[in-house]
Amino acid sequence: MNMNSVDEIISVKNVFKVFGSQPELAMKMLGEGATKAEVFQKTGQAIGVFDANFAVRRGEIFVIMGLSGSGKSTMVRLFNRLIEPTCGSIFLNGKEITGLGDKDLLQVRRKDMGMVFQSFALMPHMSVIDNVSFGLEISGVGEKERYCRAMGALQQVGLSGQEYSYPHQLSGGMQQRVGLARALANDPAILLMDEAFSALDPMIRSEMQGELIKLQAEQNRTIIFISHDIEEAVRIGHRIAIMEGGRVVQIGTPRELLCNPVNNYVRDFFNGFDTSRILKAGDIAQQDSGITYEPGRQTPVKAEASLREILHIVAASATPIPVVDEIGLYKGSISQGHLLSCLNNH
Ligand SMILES: Nc1ncnc2c1ncn2[C@@H]1O[C@H](COP(=O)(O)OP(=O)(O)OP(=O)(O)O)[C@@H](O)[C@H]1O
Ligand SMILES: [Mg+2]
Repeated sequence: MNMNSVDEIISVKNVFKVFGSQPELAMKMLGEGATKAEVFQKTGQAIGVFDANFAVRRGEIFVIMGLSGSGKSTMVRLFNRLIEPTCGSIFLNGKEITGLGDKDLLQVRRKDMGMVFQSFALMPHMSVIDNVSFGLEISGVGEKERYCRAMGALQQVGLSGQEYSYPHQLSGGMQQRVGLARALANDPAILLMDEAFSALDPMIRSEMQGELIKLQAEQNRTIIFISHDIEEAVRIGHRIAIMEGGRVVQIGTPRELLCNPVNNYVRDFFNGFDTSRILKAGDIAQQDSGITYEPGRQTPVKAEASLREILHIVAASATPIPVVDEIGLYKGSISQGHLLSCLNNH
């Protein structure tokens, strides 16, 4: 992708968030090289986000992953300024939002960002349609238009016909759809989702992931999705940012993170993950396997082929299978033993 600032919907520059009454002291210690743990031990100040620098691209599903307490929710709340950064700047469409006054900020929250939480946070005494149009009502949108937009949003999440049900009459998955519809009713450019599917049963969760992928493909909305589940992150994320102790330690496609993790923390997220889903033949081809590739004599596989696709080809061959790039250049080969060890060891 041609990267320039036009492609960036959000960009984050040197952002820190310190929780506590003495952020200056914490910043000074960090500047002198203290760790998050040392700062907390000595001053009681908690580092939520530590020197974040990255950009989210327009139209992507950007997943933020990390262990509990690594700063994911803090990061997302900084985006819609539910919390203020201790220092640094955040830009939305190239415009700094960290300096905005209350009126402009309200506009950003209403127009540009919608948030979906883990707990559905529905009003129990309100019907589905009133829950979905509630935010619009607060924004002063008239009844007719707000119901019309709410109906549209409910249709997008597959809940047409449930407008006049109450939350307690719906399953957890349906309640989360209402939460999603509520965010969509505003038609925000960016959807922020904080562990939005974590409370759902596996089947319903998978169904919701599918819906989200479909919605994003149809509408080209930017989605920032927090998850602590690698299966979910790989399935829905175009890129994944990994957070560790307040820092963003690596950002990349699932394949980039799997093939070149910057540290063991990143590598460990892939423990037990079925790597054949994302690795390609070119990722594991070996140059030095001692065979000479003779075009015409052996049928090669493409470097872009997934390990899944080539599994049966390698399994059926007594000799290593050659791998070629898109113009037919030899990239290496894959033996049965090597393929097996790649599948087991990643
Ligand atoms: N309001 C707050 N006051 C004090 N410390 C806070 C506050 N919010 C977050 N923190 C601290 O900031 C750090 C990051 O917290 P955050 O909630 O962003 O983590 P998280 O990655 O979302 O975790 P989880 O997966 O458990 O939701 C933690 O050390 C946490 O204790
Ligand atoms: Mg959180």
